[in-house]
Amino acid sequence: MKNLLVAYYSQTGQLKEIITNFVNPWKELYNIDFTEIKSDEFHFPMTYKQFFEVFPETVLKQSCKINFELKEKDYDAIILGFQPWFLHTSIPFNSFLQSDKLKKTIENKPVILVMDSRNSWRNS
Ligand SMILES: Cc1cc2nc3c(=O)[nH]c(=O)nc-3n(C[C@H](O)[C@H](O)[C@H](O)COP(=O)(O)O)c2cc1C
Repeated sequence: MKNLLVAYYSQTGQLKEIITNFVNPWKELYNIDFTEIKSDEFHFPMTYKQFFEVFPETVLKQSCKINFELKEKDYDAIILGFQPWFLHTSIPFNSFLQSDKLKKTIENKPVILVMDSRNSWRNS
């Protein structure tokens, strides 16, 4: 059986639900490992002030502290789930993209991107 990695960040659980349903039909064909990226820095719901305070850090692609578990495995394909924040990749997901562990895991692998948004996403 082929191995599939599904890695995502989800602040409210919305993307988690979408991506779980998205891969559900493939469970018969693949061994699927899920990696949830977690961060203690962005709680839901955000206040108006918190929401706009993350704007500069997001656009400048600054990273935050994240936790995730990634197996050292030779995956056949990787699905990455992310969301735009201010037309850029969200800070937790962007931090994941910068991690050496992920870079090593996705090197030369087919990657599928799954994104959920409020319809302003193209830039990210
Ligand atoms: C700080 C912040 C900025 C956002 N900026 C955008 C945006 O620029 N475009 C957009 O379509 N949605 C934007 N959104 C909405 C999220 O992308 C959307 O709610 C997404 O479904 C979040 O998924 P999640 O709750 O699973 O993390 C933003 C949300 C947050 C919290």
